[in-house]
Amino acid sequence: MKGLIVDSNKCFALKENLTRPVAELDEVLVKVKSASVNPFDEESAAGRFDAYFAEYKVDKEVQSGLEFSGIVESDGQKFKRGDKVFGYVNMITGWKSHAEYLAINENQMALMPNNLTFPQAAAIPLGSLTTLVALQDVGRLKAGMKLLIIGAAGGLGIQGIQIGKLLGGHVTAIAGNSQTEFLRPYGADIVHDYNQVSIKDISDTFDLILDLSNAQNLEDMKKRLTPKGMFIPAEPTQENGGESEDPQVGYLMVMEGNFEKLSRIANWVSEGKLRAVIDKEFHFSDYLQAFSRLKEKGRRGRIILNW
Ligand SMILES: NC(=O)c1ccc[n+]([C@@H]2O[C@H](COP(=O)([O-])OP(=O)(O)OC[C@H]3O[C@@H](n4cnc5c(N)ncnc54)[C@H](OP(=O)(O)O)[C@@H]3O)[C@@H](O)[C@H]2O)c1
Repeated sequence: MKGLIVDSNKCFALKENLTRPVAELDEVLVKVKSASVNPFDEESAAGRFDAYFAEYKVDKEVQSGLEFSGIVESDGQKFKRGDKVFGYVNMITGWKSHAEYLAINENQMALMPNNLTFPQAAAIPLGSLTTLVALQDVGRLKAGMKLLIIGAAGGLGIQGIQIGKLLGGHVTAIAGNSQTEFLRPYGADIVHDYNQVSIKDISDTFDLILDLSNAQNLEDMKKRLTPKGMFIPAEPTQENGGESEDPQVGYLMVMEGNFEKLSRIANWVSEGKLRAVIDKEFHFSDYLQAFSRLKEKGRRGRIILNW
């Protein structure tokens, strides 16, 4: 099996002859067709999750790739051989998707919407599931509420705008240069360029603020909340309040896919209510270019690797 590994210099390398995973109880084997590249992958290569891998005794060769689309190779309880699926592997314990095959618990994926290609389907699960949990379950966004999404053009943000609108929110988006016209068709009611408008210049208050940029501080965010409003940082820490008991800060941690929620997301996609956004596609053999692109500013949606 081919796949990306992290070599002794903490760099990615494409290897052949890796061990193909074997599906265990409640798992199926999936032949991966496409997978996304996202900030987790570089952090994983740099060793950020090594302590967790050690704690859970995870010693899999492939350590990157959270989202995927592909074809089921073995019959399971929910899925059968030949089904086209998309999903999000467990961030720590799962077989990762930067490989030709992965084994995955059937509860962590769903049937692919039939109006998407494999690359498009791989661009959806992590961003849509995480923002659905953030906005619906953590933030309790209701119709008519005012939502601010900071970092709105990235892999999570572009899904968050669309899901915010599907849940009935009024969406203000903050993104980089020249994203204004790009983001409007996805439903953003107001778009600010973070190079021109500082968060301190925005006089509006919001019922919910989702910060996907990890560049904001708690004090500034609280000033922009309505009295019952909530701030949700993408990466919860003590400093941004995400790991504190502060009732105005929501804790967000989505570690793996969820069959019911991904099926709901697939329905939205099938009905044309939610769209996949691909920044750039690369063949797996061009993984170095894909990771270079990840370092650039101004991306729109997800970077995709295809076999
Ligand atoms: N808690 C959870 O369960 C969970 C799950 C998944 C992901 N995450 C986290 O969510 C975050 C977003 O993930 P992603 O995949 O969407 O990343 P991404 O694609 O890199 O998007 C991040 C966005 O933030 C923007 N940004 C950077 N600095 C900014 C600033 N000062 N003001 C406004 N926007 C700014 C970037 O725009 P430019 O290109 O212009 O810089 C980019 O569009 C990551 O930190 C990830 O680790 C959390």
